[in-house]
Amino acid sequence: MTTVVDVANVSKDFKIHYERHQSLKERLLHPKTGSTEDFSALKDISFEVEEGETVGILGHNGSGKSTLLKCICGVLQPTSGEIRLRGSLAALLELGAGFQLELSGRDNVYIYGAMLGFTRKRIDQIFEDIVDFSEIQHFIDTPVKFYSSGMYVRLAFAVAVNVNPDILVVDEVLAVGDERFQAKCIDRIRNFQEEGRAILLVTHSADQVRSLASRAIVLESGLMIANGTVSDSLRIFREHLLGDTPSNEVNDHSAEVHIDSVTTPSGSFDVHSGASMHFDVHVTSATAYSGNFVMEIFTRAGVLVSRSDAQGAPINLRPGVNTIGVDLPNIPLLDGVFDINVGVVDPRGSNVKAWGEKVATMQVTYGGREGGLVELDASIRQV
Ligand SMILES: Nc1ncnc2c1ncn2[C@@H]1O[C@H](COP(=O)(O)OP(=O)(O)OP(=O)(O)O)[C@@H](O)[C@H]1O
Ligand SMILES: [Mg+2]
Repeated sequence: MTTVVDVANVSKDFKIHYERHQSLKERLLHPKTGSTEDFSALKDISFEVEEGETVGILGHNGSGKSTLLKCICGVLQPTSGEIRLRGSLAALLELGAGFQLELSGRDNVYIYGAMLGFTRKRIDQIFEDIVDFSEIQHFIDTPVKFYSSGMYVRLAFAVAVNVNPDILVVDEVLAVGDERFQAKCIDRIRNFQEEGRAILLVTHSADQVRSLASRAIVLESGLMIANGTVSDSLRIFREHLLGDTPSNEVNDHSAEVHIDSVTTPSGSFDVHSGASMHFDVHVTSATAYSGNFVMEIFTRAGVLVSRSDAQGAPINLRPGVNTIGVDLPNIPLLDGVFDINVGVVDPRGSNVKAWGEKVATMQVTYGGREGGLVELDASIRQV
């Protein structure tokens, strides 16, 4: 395999200016009393991305995701460490980064293309494709400053994907477009994956990472606290998302509680829409533990269908093997294959104690005529 992105011991410090005197009066009286301090936005980050990989980057607001991408794209210089790229790179950074607001969409396409190393002639050849993809034909000669954020993202995405980069870097922008455009972008990303290009994807959506990424990284206060399989990284991210635990407590949950297996009495997870289902979750605990049981159901495309209340199902685990029974009456799902995640969380529902990602797969069959994910018990009548 070929390494296309090599990030080695990268740190990035920003100088932050502090005002010691808060009020305007004090500032006027003591004009030079501020001080600067180094703020460390990235701390010794190292990882590699191979050809054909899609790496999800997760982390809280301010954890350093955009800073990392900007360093990779060369928009920012790391304070220390080194980044090596192999092949061409196109980036969709945060809104506002990249385009010249006073200029038209058309001019920006050419400028952006030039930044990526394309000649005017080459951009001429793909210009129509770019505009078609963006669907903003009528506004292509309007200054970008008048674009809505959705239009801006459409154009930026259209350029980035039509120049066919070896490495595509996407910072959250997928969340901006409307649902149809998002679906189109995701389709294009899947094509890229099939063509063996590398993708770095920053998102707050665990669903998107689950459905698109082959690996995931988690940043927390500038530190890389996970770099591994999507399910491992999501578990660590979830712990932080729910618990807001400082990064040095990441492994503090230890392996005292463990999800062993999920079974049904018949051994099958096939069920008819509208029928009921029972399954048992076998959990081993080293000690007695009181917490809550949580369950999630996802579609194969990674859409969350349902997550139970993290404080809604208290359990008291005994040392050894425990069984937790789950009853799903009158399953409202229509045809489809659904993945089940289960977990044990603390009494406040804020820290994950044990997690089982895709521990079971439920196959639902439906004979009726309704379409979609769920059967709504709607009564429809003319009034
Ligand atoms: N140019 C800058 N000068 C000073 N501090 C900065 C600068 N750019 C980013 N920071 C700081 O670095 C930290 C990381 O910011 P970054 O934008 O990388 O976070 P992020 O993970 O992308 O967050 P979000 O999810 O909100 O997009 C933040 O504390 C931010 O305030
Ligand atoms: Mg960001």
